[in-house]
Amino acid sequence: MATEDHNNGGTTSEVQKSKPKPITPSELRSEFSHHDPSIARINNGSFGCCPASIIAAQERHQLLFLSQPDYYFFNILKPSILRTRRLIQTLINADHVDEVSIVDNATTAAAIVLQHSTRSFFSSTFQRGDAALILHYAYGAVKKSVEAYISRAGGHVIEVHLPFPVKSSSEIVFEFEKALQMGKANGRKIRLAVIDHITSMPCVIIPVKELVKMCRDEGVERIFIDGAHAIGNVKVDVKDIGADFYTSNLHKWLFCPPSAAFLYCKMSDEVSDLHHPVVSHEYGNGLAIESSWIGTRDYSAQLVLPEVMEFVRRFEGGIEGIMKRNHEMVVEMAKMLAEAWGTELGAPPEMCASLAMVGMPACLGIQSDSDALKLRKHLREWFKVEVPIYYRAPVEGEVDPITGYARISHQVYNAVEDYHRLRDAVQKLVQDGFTCAHLSK
Ligand SMILES: Cc1ncc(COP(=O)(O)O)c(C=O)c1O
Repeated sequence: MATEDHNNGGTTSEVQKSKPKPITPSELRSEFSHHDPSIARINNGSFGCCPASIIAAQERHQLLFLSQPDYYFFNILKPSILRTRRLIQTLINADHVDEVSIVDNATTAAAIVLQHSTRSFFSSTFQRGDAALILHYAYGAVKKSVEAYISRAGGHVIEVHLPFPVKSSSEIVFEFEKALQMGKANGRKIRLAVIDHITSMPCVIIPVKELVKMCRDEGVERIFIDGAHAIGNVKVDVKDIGADFYTSNLHKWLFCPPSAAFLYCKMSDEVSDLHHPVVSHEYGNGLAIESSWIGTRDYSAQLVLPEVMEFVRRFEGGIEGIMKRNHEMVVEMAKMLAEAWGTELGAPPEMCASLAMVGMPACLGIQSDSDALKLRKHLREWFKVEVPIYYRAPVEGEVDPITGYARISHQVYNAVEDYHRLRDAVQKLVQDGFTCAHLSK
């Protein structure tokens, strides 16, 4: 693998420069003044957000490129990507910058890791019928990637059932252990585990460190953590977690524009066989370098991390302070909503990051994924609230089960009124005797 010149591309100590001026409430409003003011936006989870000062920094990069593309290509692009990689290296506690690649998004990172396993089947390092383990609540696109890259190569896929609502992380550890043991029961080899750090829907923090250790103890060779929602939302320490691969989007909770993500690959002999799915001039020079040129395109979203680090430093406690306040606020708002609606949270506070699942009144009659989607649309169109809704199939024998959960989020731009609007909208629907059966497609 090609290694980097450590004198290029700035240093990580840049993030420790003198303290910037704290952001004022009016500056904060102006940073997000491009948000549609009519919408109570409590879905930061899907697409994240990007402050105006970061959009401006991105535009500066775009203009710099357009003003003299050749100069930009030869002198600016690679050192700027290296700078982003160094900042990520520090943020996630990776040993070496060569372990960090910048890619478009978590979907691309998953393709890189899974294609690597496909090649292991083709080279007979893995045998037909060897297994990959994945959570039942894995993100849909990642599940499809497992189908495309593992099942089609002859691999067997084991899905770990997870309880929801969930009362403690030990329930997850228990189910995972059960699936591992059952998977191995007839001598099957489990070669790869794909584990979410924060599941998307329903949304809970997964005890990744414990699960990685369990996989290691049971001889699972490759462990990939899908932390799409993690960086800027929970602490990410890749050495402490101990997986082989870890990805997180930078555009969800770390204020980067769409789209940018990192893929961490622990240094090992195998790593030199990891490749970007888009092959270009840098093929064979190590994943981080391959990823830094995948043809002519706009790389600007990957390059504004220094400005993002400056932005977060304007908040008390920096990114840790933001994460702490987001968590506290989302839990407070979730409890307020659950109390108003007479329901419960889908997970205890310690399993919520800046996202929380709140049970919705059973009388709304959410009976399918399609009902959940229609209700979400109704809330958007009639009440101007943007919030994803999860449908949970009732278990036999349950009385008045909660079948719908709102996935609320909190980010620095949110105000208590956003949650009051959701509370009041749902209460009005209940008072009016509304049920999902009233909604057409
Ligand atoms: C757990 C998880 N994995 C992967 C992804 C895919 O992210 P992207 O669409 O940015 O590739 C998401 C997106 O929400 C996600 O929640």
